[in-house]
Amino acid sequence: LASIEVDVSSLQPGMSLTAKWRGKPVFIRNRTDKEVEEAKAVPVGELKDPVARNANLAADAEATDLDRSAGEGKENWIVMIGSCTHLGCVPLGQAGDFGGWFCPCHGSHYDTAGRIRKGPAPENLPVPTFTFVSDTVIKIG
Ligand code: FES
Repeated sequence: LASIEVDVSSLQPGMSLTAKWRGKPVFIRNRTDKEVEEAKAVPVGELKDPVARNANLAADAEATDLDRSAGEGKENWIVMIGSCTHLGCVPLGQAGDFGGWFCPCHGSHYDTAGRIRKGPAPENLPVPTFTFVSDTVIKIG
């Protein structure tokens, strides 16, 4: 299926944008150092869903912050499909008890790595296949 390229050059730390891919919103966020540190500080064993859900990695990769992010050297970047894993509503950014995303439909709270932390959603927000084709352009799909 078709891939898209997204210019992220305008995203300063703390900013995000929503692209559209295969009819679904894709959240792209340039996280602040603080947001990355907060996510890194959470032990994987405490997570409701300990699996990375990252299409770029092995299916059994753990939901560490690094494996949820764009990887070594680009850990500030997070790319996820913006569809709540409960019943598919679109979560709101920079919201909820963990400073990540909040789904207002039934109250699911995701952290700054898009991992489900509280509420009815069963899984972390999925990370689609993507790659940086340059420092400022991300190809999704
Ligand atoms: Fe998000 Fe139910 S659809 S909490």
